[in-house]
Amino acid sequence: MCGIIGYVGSKEATPILLEGLKKLEYRGYDSSGVGVCSAKDGKIAIRKAQGKIRHLEELIKSHAIPHSTVGISHTRWATHGAPSHRNSHPHCNVKQTIAVVHNGIIENYQEIKQELQKKGIKFSSETDTEVIAHLVSQYFHGDLIKAVQKAIGRVRGAFAIGVISSATPNLLVAARVGSPLIIGIGKGENFIASDVPAILDKTKRVIYLKDGEMAALTANDVKIWKFDGKPVTPKIDTITFTVGSAQKEGYPHFMLKEIHEQPNVLAQMMKVRTKGNNVILDGIGLSDNQLKSIKNIYIVACGTAYHAGMVGKYVIEKLSGIPVTVDAASEFRYREPILQKGTLIVSVSQSGETADTLAAVRDARARGAKAITICNAVGSSLVRESDGVLYTHAGPEIGVASTKAYTAQIGMFYLFALKLGELRKKLSDAERQKILKELKHIPTLFKTILKDKDHVAQIAKKKFRFGCFLFLGRNVNYPSALEGALKLKEISYIPAEGYAAGEMKHGPIALIDEYRAVVCIAPQSDVYEKMISNIQEIRARKGKITAIATQGDTNIKKHADYVIYIPKTNPLLTPLLVALPLQLIAYYIAVNLGCDVDQPRNLAKSVTVE
Ligand code: M6R
Repeated sequence: MCGIIGYVGSKEATPILLEGLKKLEYRGYDSSGVGVCSAKDGKIAIRKAQGKIRHLEELIKSHAIPHSTVGISHTRWATHGAPSHRNSHPHCNVKQTIAVVHNGIIENYQEIKQELQKKGIKFSSETDTEVIAHLVSQYFHGDLIKAVQKAIGRVRGAFAIGVISSATPNLLVAARVGSPLIIGIGKGENFIASDVPAILDKTKRVIYLKDGEMAALTANDVKIWKFDGKPVTPKIDTITFTVGSAQKEGYPHFMLKEIHEQPNVLAQMMKVRTKGNNVILDGIGLSDNQLKSIKNIYIVACGTAYHAGMVGKYVIEKLSGIPVTVDAASEFRYREPILQKGTLIVSVSQSGETADTLAAVRDARARGAKAITICNAVGSSLVRESDGVLYTHAGPEIGVASTKAYTAQIGMFYLFALKLGELRKKLSDAERQKILKELKHIPTLFKTILKDKDHVAQIAKKKFRFGCFLFLGRNVNYPSALEGALKLKEISYIPAEGYAAGEMKHGPIALIDEYRAVVCIAPQSDVYEKMISNIQEIRARKGKITAIATQGDTNIKKHADYVIYIPKTNPLLTPLLVALPLQLIAYYIAVNLGCDVDQPRNLAKSVTVE
């Protein structure tokens, strides 16, 4: 989704803005732009370019931008109007004395636009954002803060905005509802940004602006108010992750780096979340008695987080006996799920800003349900709008394709299920301790899989020309099949389907011929024999099989063209292990195809609109 960075200080603004924009590239975008206050002609100087940020840099090289120490910039992910120069941000009022960058959607922009057009205002873009610039201009009589306050009082929807005016060239005004915005506190300089990585090399002191708050930034001061004008004393947080964690550190792509971070992420989680044989769920916001009396659980999430939730369903039901329904958040919010006393909502999200997941949680809580979130982004909207949080603390995930956040979400589900199983006495102490011990050993097994990544790279080299992939799994690895297919399609653009292997005969088998690449997830488990039968059926129809199997299973070599081995573990924990080869398959195939692995086309890291 769109990215915002704004600067006010004593340094040249443009290079800082461009640098910050590059760090937000992972969010996904199709054009970018910069606006700075120019002392020269009393106007805001604007440069915009379609495509990559380097196009904007080239433009600024050929059409120099005036010196300025205050400015705003933006990467746009098109919603209203095509990706084009005219629709790129910043957007200005007619005199080009006020400029706005915006992330989100203004729902009532049509009616405001008509009203402004009737007054003779000419619009120069198709965006919803432009109405904000004109509204601020209408209300501006020398006080930018007041003008912004009045303008945002008129708009409905979700927004994070940054506004500058050439009449107040030392001031940057920001506001948010729905879309994330942080303020970075520097020394003699201050920033606004959509996300922490944009400013991490400048400052680690941040304020997470809350919904319904606006801010005024000068070089040496930050003031915050609620939209109604009531002053707010901000809480300044210190970011604990390092600049290195938001950089590639020698890896060719963030995705590969993040795949390799998985052993550490899970090991950290086990260290922090367990004490001896006990699971610690600090932050969950529910007492043991409340956890004991849960009647049913709805897991709501989108995309990869939804697949993690599907694994969560299998695990919670098996270890605690509590019935679980998993819903795509976009479906949950528009149906009428039966919420009763004792229903718990568990949302899952890397960003904590996914619009549908947020709306699902809001709806459920408004109807009286308790909601906790399994979330990676500290202080995000989902966290603030839930009764409790289980942070995954996977560190910043920059690659658009989720990897370490996924295994961290699954890891948290195991811990949560173990706790529920203990409280509800579904598990004996011995069983619980055995699973926990095996779970703690997974980071070591992750490392074993990663050591063998060249083998996966070789297989990918043989497979990347296939035009269609099928991923099959059963039971707890059915969600793994869905996730394997999602990973491949999002970064390589190869059509891929994930299926429960038992569903093969009910349709997908019609796809199988010698041109079909099939990935069969077949670790040792109760359903292993069934998977082998499915594999034979595919083999009989000449499908090209890559199997993911347990180390020592030589039998499977007879049935598959290629085998990727994972170490032996408790079958219930295998979704963690199989995730890594699936991520690597997708990664190496996409690399072979020359795709932009970290920023796949059309995708955004954080989907803050519906
Ligand atoms: O930030 P979230 O975890 O809520 O995001 C949910 C999905 O948008 C996300 O998982 C998406 O499917 C990823 N691109 C998958 O790799």
